[in-house]
Amino acid sequence: MKQLPIGIPIVGSLAAFILILLALLAGSRPGFMEEYDLVAFNTSGLGQNLIINAGNDNDEPTPTGSGICDGVGGFLGRTCSSATAAVDSLQSDITDTVNDIGNEIADELADRLGIHEFYSLHALTICEGDYSPNATTSGADRNVTECHKGFTNGYNVSALLDHGLQVGPYKLTLADLGFTDEMQDAMDTLNTVLKAFTALLIIAVGFTGISMLASIAALFLIPRHERKTVLINLILAGTALSFLVLSGLIGTIAASIATDKINEKGDDIGLSANLGKGYLIITWIAVGLMLITFGYWLWQFLRYRNGKTTDPRGPRKYARDSEESGAAYGDRPNMRSTSGINFSRTRRH
Ligand SMILES: *[C@@H]1O[C@H](CO)[C@@H](O)[C@H](O)[C@H]1NC(C)=O
Ligand SMILES: *[C@@H]1O[C@H](CO)[C@@H](O)[C@H](O)[C@H]1NC(C)=O
Ligand SMILES: *[C@@H]1O[C@H](CO)[C@@H](O)[C@H](O)[C@H]1NC(C)=O
Ligand SMILES: *[C@@H]1O[C@H](CO)[C@@H](O)[C@H](O)[C@H]1NC(C)=O
Repeated sequence: MKQLPIGIPIVGSLAAFILILLALLAGSRPGFMEEYDLVAFNTSGLGQNLIINAGNDNDEPTPTGSGICDGVGGFLGRTCSSATAAVDSLQSDITDTVNDIGNEIADELADRLGIHEFYSLHALTICEGDYSPNATTSGADRNVTECHKGFTNGYNVSALLDHGLQVGPYKLTLADLGFTDEMQDAMDTLNTVLKAFTALLIIAVGFTGISMLASIAALFLIPRHERKTVLINLILAGTALSFLVLSGLIGTIAASIATDKINEKGDDIGLSANLGKGYLIITWIAVGLMLITFGYWLWQFLRYRNGKTTDPRGPRKYARDSEESGAAYGDRPNMRSTSGINFSRTRRH
């Protein structure tokens, strides 16, 4: 290893900063880096269970409030009636057999119920909208209608769904669609974890930015204050790296677990979730870039410390000494740097 130009940590931390900033800001405006979400809920199939259940219970569509809702009184009875009304209305559109319903009207279900086809969780927001051209097309684009503050107001997809259903024509509840308490618990956990994740991510963005500025400042400071500059850069890069790894791990683990849970529990009610691969990729590339930056400063630090501890003349005070100490190893006596930026250093064997 001969030279490690200071361009390495500057470019590394700058690229890491840009990527992690984009990871934070993805989805902050409708359509801005929409594909870079953590988890996207596909709600286009919600409500299928109503049709299929009703379809199994009665072969013919039943008038509102009769049939399957008989014997259910009070509030539950009313809910059941509206659920049945929704089903009846949907069923009247159906010409084919009950088993084909999912495919036939998948694109209409959400619309009918008053909800959107997807709800995507980003670092700062929840966005909602419909698939384009339709939900069943593979690789469909997402047409975002609006984004809601998530970090400050909570990442509660159920609340948005609930609101949509209330505003919608049938006044259904999530329970009608088959949401269980277990499912809500999973979502509430995700909500809490995402807040912690975003808080760590914001800190990570801050430290990555500061580390980037410190790397640039090192260009000018190293010739005069090598020890301090290297040490401060090492600490800043280490802190930024720690927060990046921490937020990366929490985001990745939370998103994976939530996706698995929702796909497992949501399968029979037509709810599914997709893990945001693009998001994870840019996050971990940023981690890699920051690791390189940290590695550079660690290498400079060790190089400096080794010089110091083996220097026969005792503790060293100036950067200049570190250049000279290399000569003691006899590897490359003439690799003295004059600019201080162009580190020429040999490794001790
Ligand atoms: C996106 O949605 C808006 C309104 O919801 C609609 O007018 C527009 O045509 C949609 N765009 C695409 C590409 O589907
Ligand atoms: C979805 O869109 C594709 C491509 O535009 C079309 O072939 C398909 O019939 C559509 N499906 C539904 C259910 O509308
Ligand atoms: C969304 O879910 C529906 C029904 O569950 C499925 O047919 C469709 O392929 C899914 N679309 C996407 C983009 O995941
Ligand atoms: C999310 O919204 C649902 C439905 O409105 C509600 O039952 C649940 O308690 C909310 N969770 C949190 C953490 O606010």
